[in-house]
Amino acid sequence: MTGTTSPAEHAEASGHVAPASYHESGTVEAWNERYTTRGMVWGTDPNRFLADYATGLSPRRVLDLGCGQGRNAVWLATQGHRVTGIDLSPVAIEQARRMAADRTVEALFEVANVVEDWTPTPGSFDLVILSYLQLPPHDRRVAHAKATEAVAPGGTVWLIAHHSDNIADGVGGPPYPEVLFDERALAEDFSDLDLLRNEKVYRDVEGEDGLVRLAHDILLVATKPLEPEG
Ligand SMILES: C[S@@+](CC[C@H](N)C(=O)[O-])C[C@H]1O[C@@H](n2cnc3c(N)ncnc32)[C@H](O)[C@@H]1O
Repeated sequence: MTGTTSPAEHAEASGHVAPASYHESGTVEAWNERYTTRGMVWGTDPNRFLADYATGLSPRRVLDLGCGQGRNAVWLATQGHRVTGIDLSPVAIEQARRMAADRTVEALFEVANVVEDWTPTPGSFDLVILSYLQLPPHDRRVAHAKATEAVAPGGTVWLIAHHSDNIADGVGGPPYPEVLFDERALAEDFSDLDLLRNEKVYRDVEGEDGLVRLAHDILLVATKPLEPEG
């Protein structure tokens, strides 16, 4: 499956010099600085694969973990969903709130570190989305376990991320192998769910040199089994 992408979704690929390590790039300060100085870093349109998946879904309670500046959460709110977005960057959350106000929709935005200081209410969302929340293995497992806990029986976890192959074969995304992942890691992380999709997807990304390259993403759609009657 291939989709086009807005250049802004790949601002990281063009011109920006990434910090030497994930450790430096993943702090609250680093995220705040990025969001303060670089405008709408990921653009204002929803991720293309999310739009493909969620267009036409009946209203749901949606949780967006690592929602950033709110492009996906606010779009989901415009589609009639009851949305909560969580991100560790107060700057991003402020920008997300402003975007929701500009589009005259309501969404709840909260500043929290999903790994360290957020506890999900079990089964409280029908759809949990994670869009490019790229974390090192321990943190990734914690975040994915919390996503699993937050989703209700019958509900869905939907995830898009940069695939491990993206560094060697793709374009954009973080240049730190430890925060990229593949089908195997996701199958383990979401082993309590029924996996409907767990596969590579591709996006065309146009670079500053005018050449179009393929970004390698991973897309997961997984549902939580209904509790047995009885
Ligand atoms: C690549 S951005 C993607 C933002 C958004 N999901 C999107 O697709 O536009 C990753 C986001 O995850 C947030 N983040 C990273 N680690 C986090 C954590 N432990 N808890 C909450 N948010 C986190 C960052 O602040 C950043 O906004």
